[in-house]
Amino acid sequence: MKVIKKVSELRKIAFKHLINKDEIGLVPTMGALHEGHVSLISKSVKNDDVTIVSIFVNPAQFAPGEDYLKYPRPLEKDLSICRKNHVDYVFVPSAAEMFPDGHKTFVEVKSLQDILCGAFRKNHFRGVATVVAKLFNISFACRAYLGMKDFQQLRIIEKMSKELNFRTKITPCPIVREKNGLALSSRNSYLTAEEKKSAAQIYQALKKAKEEFKTKSASAVLKNVRDKIASIAASKIDYAEILDYSSLLPVSENAKKAAIVVAVWIGNTRLIDNAVLSK
Ligand code: PAF
Repeated sequence: MKVIKKVSELRKIAFKHLINKDEIGLVPTMGALHEGHVSLISKSVKNDDVTIVSIFVNPAQFAPGEDYLKYPRPLEKDLSICRKNHVDYVFVPSAAEMFPDGHKTFVEVKSLQDILCGAFRKNHFRGVATVVAKLFNISFACRAYLGMKDFQQLRIIEKMSKELNFRTKITPCPIVREKNGLALSSRNSYLTAEEKKSAAQIYQALKKAKEEFKTKSASAVLKNVRDKIASIAASKIDYAEILDYSSLLPVSENAKKAAIVVAVWIGNTRLIDNAVLSK
């Protein structure tokens, strides 16, 4: 496994693989790797000739006052996880390497970036789309693996990749959960043991919504989810919505398929989760 810090070096190596007709898989991450990331890596290792994992805590997707500085960065542990899981290249650029002084080019996915998380995290998705576009260009990936936990991010990257004609196709991967249902996230490390128990109840609310959606209207399901989450200790809802699965637009009362998406604070930690609903 080779660790690469420079954009020019990764481009050179990836280009050689491209010429060689190797299929390149990219797993973009911010590090603090967990089993969710491992599931993405394993898919790429299985599907692609070459697997690149990027580890970059992207300053462009954090607003002032968010957790950019405290975001976990256990690089040695991450590298050993990558090594153990047969990654070929790990790309760990510095912030200055990805965003040199004077960087002024940004990618925006207008219809999707300002709703849900975008309404609470200014410029977040502009930062995500920009860094992911750069990673797609640098890596020449034919496939990128993204987790479904970040449902809005997934939809934004799919739309960006299609509309900007990237060669990179997106492979969405299912959410990996702890036994108690808590969706794996690098930010779970901020939770105390007590908060973890509260956080696990978010999934219980989503599971109930899945059941109820079979027989109840979207608004009735949503009301029950909001009530259940509001009753969790130390919780504060940023949003809870039932939306069209593909477009993230509002759904009609009797939609057959939808997604329920939530962002909830448990104490000082903001968690997101979602579930697919179908009749
Ligand atoms: O999901 C993440 O970890 C990040 O948002 C991503 C896609 C790596 C972009 O920085």
